[in-house]
Amino acid sequence: MKKKVLIMHGDGVGPEVTRQGAKVLKATAPLTGLELETDEALVGGAAYDETGSFLPEESKKKTVAADAILFGSIGGPKWDSLDYTVRPERGLLELRRDLDLFANLRPARVLSALVDASTLKREVVEGTDLLVLRELTGGIYFGTPRGPVERDGRKGAANTMIYFEDEVERIIRAGFDLARKRRNKLTSIDKSNVLEVSKLWRSIAEKLGPEYPDVELNHLYVDNAAMQIIRDPRQFDTMVTGNMFGDILSDEAAMLTGSIGMLPSASIGPDHALYEPIHGSAPDIAGQDIANPLASILSVGMMFRYTFGKPEADEWIQKAVNDVLEKYRTPDIMAEGKKRVGCEQMGDLMLEALEQLKPVPTPN
Ligand code: IPM
Ligand code: MG
Repeated sequence: MKKKVLIMHGDGVGPEVTRQGAKVLKATAPLTGLELETDEALVGGAAYDETGSFLPEESKKKTVAADAILFGSIGGPKWDSLDYTVRPERGLLELRRDLDLFANLRPARVLSALVDASTLKREVVEGTDLLVLRELTGGIYFGTPRGPVERDGRKGAANTMIYFEDEVERIIRAGFDLARKRRNKLTSIDKSNVLEVSKLWRSIAEKLGPEYPDVELNHLYVDNAAMQIIRDPRQFDTMVTGNMFGDILSDEAAMLTGSIGMLPSASIGPDHALYEPIHGSAPDIAGQDIANPLASILSVGMMFRYTFGKPEADEWIQKAVNDVLEKYRTPDIMAEGKKRVGCEQMGDLMLEALEQLKPVPTPN
């Protein structure tokens, strides 16, 4: 059966990196026996400029019909002065919420070719391979009431951090399931020494633990987790946490790897999935063909693994990335002795590397 992939380029470097991701997607699909149909849709500031909406109805319809979405990035100074309710970021948040993409997988793997690109010492980061699983459709990002408040004549603003039991349970179960496919260790991160919502979170993780006796579960407060990530990242396998803690910790974890330009993500719900680089729209370098497309390309790898059930394609893509990086670098990860290449050329090199890795059918 044909699979439908919707490509949403968005703003800033989104279009250029996503073009490279799409190139790799189209080249890899036939190697896995997968038939693909691709389409495109507007989102973010680009959509706002054209239609007055950051997520136009037509785009919404297409997202619902797609098996998977390859997303670029959104936002930029041009739209920064707009009210919250019409900021391009709302387009992404709305998509996450409407498609119920509650499980956000953000792997941080220190590739052998890039160990020295990290700002941390080689002996601290070498071999790091962790996964931040962030709850993506609840918590303080979506809690109500929200907005301006006035109390005793003082003006302020408020957001609400709220989690319902079912929301916590499904993300923690996803954490256990992912840990099982990795190294059987799950760290749940909260702030249960202060927050009621975190107490609930921890009690649910503890309740579910016995159902996964093969997974070792431990708990960390978020401030301690932030410290442990840079002190000794190799202690972590799978980390599960709420929306805002996950937003912060995943950026921190990204830096272990040398460049946020390398990190892919998957946002998965019961019926839909969206794949996007963790990096933003980087308007300062947009349109110059210098952005690193590897996060988008690795996001395509995750799409093969999680939506199409073809983990082997993810393995090829990861291997090809490591091979290409032995010789070539985009400016964000440039190092002595390597050849500097642009965004598009990096995409072409990936196609060549994949061609070399072309799978030979294994005899059974
Ligand atoms: C992310 C981003 C988004 C978030 C922004 C762009 C709304 O930082 O995906 O991590 O905060 O979730
Ligand atoms: Mg973020």
